Amino acid sequence: MGARDATTGPADIAVRAGIRAPSQHNTQPWRFRVLGDGVEVLRDAGRVLEHGDDGGRGADLACGAVLCNMRVALTAAGYGCAVDVLPDGGRPELAGVVRFTGPARPGPEDIALGAAVARRATNRRPFADRPVPPSLRHRLAAAADGEGARLVVLSPAELDTFAALLRRADHELARDADYRAELAAWTHDGERPDGVPASAGGPRPEPGTLLAMRDFGAARRVADEPPTAARAFERDPCVAVLTSTGDTRRHRITAGIALEHVLLVATSRGLGASFLPQPLEVESTRLELTTALGRRGYPQTALRLGYGYPGATTPRRPVEDVTSYAG
Ligand SMILES: Cc1cc2nc3c(=O)[nH]c(=O)nc-3n(C[C@H](O)[C@H](O)[C@H](O)COP(=O)(O)O)c2cc1C
Repeated sequence: MGARDATTGPADIAVRAGIRAPSQHNTQPWRFRVLGDGVEVLRDAGRVLEHGDDGGRGADLACGAVLCNMRVALTAAGYGCAVDVLPDGGRPELAGVVRFTGPARPGPEDIALGAAVARRATNRRPFADRPVPPSLRHRLAAAADGEGARLVVLSPAELDTFAALLRRADHELARDADYRAELAAWTHDGERPDGVPASAGGPRPEPGTLLAMRDFGAARRVADEPPTAARAFERDPCVAVLTSTGDTRRHRITAGIALEHVLLVATSRGLGASFLPQPLEVESTRLELTTALGRRGYPQTALRLGYGYPGATTPRRPVEDVTSYAG
């Protein structure tokens, strides 16, 4: 393909948006292959976590989020496109392809979501005690629904059940030395283009806080170091579980598309989000959560939603390091 297409055309817009996707521990488990009429998204096996990522669920969710960002950014820039998930059974590493389909006329919502791609960031700080209005909850649920997934906002009773599973899963994971070592290896002081900078890790919740957050600091803290000050988190957290109608890789990648669509709608409305996926990463709690959700589908991840001081964006590997060109 021509040099212009590779640097300023739709492929460039797509890849630059794709790399802004969220990923567990910011592993960025993706690579891109630019075609004449589209861009392939490949799951990078070398960046799939070995511990705490139930069979690559997190990597598939991340690749789905990449596909969503690419579609949203292309549409906002006036390029029509079509997304195909797992298009080639003979190439399982090919998570999806985005093909350019000609000009598109973006509406105001397309442009708002396109602008949210670069601003979206995980917000691990406490949120204000201000409820998420029902109209916005419905808008978020509609975003998931439109992608073939479901966003289940938990009732107070369901939240108690979820919080208990979260505590158990978090405790179980924290007891696993391999998991702790892997988490430590992906946490750093801000000198790398991947992994989670300690500054993005968020404050330690006060004892007795309902929701157990993944502790990015624990693995690096030395035994005699004084603990950082604990902060109070919101009293009535808003937690939503994203579910699918099945639990195959196709369902997971599609759930990743839905996840990012939900996060972009949230960002565009000034709503923050952080992840609470630990119950999905331990088999017993994942099965219990599935049972608790009943017929509402297979859980893929969980989000804490609320209003707060926005989180800072984290680094990504440069486009040149993750892109190759066909032919
Ligand atoms: C599947 C998945 C699981 C994640 N799990 C957690 C988590 O347990 N705790 C957390 O604070 N962030 C979690 N994250 C958020 C990532 O750490 C975050 O996306 C990454 O560091 C990049 O930062 P950004 O989202 O601000 O762009 C998760 C993200 C994904 C996609």
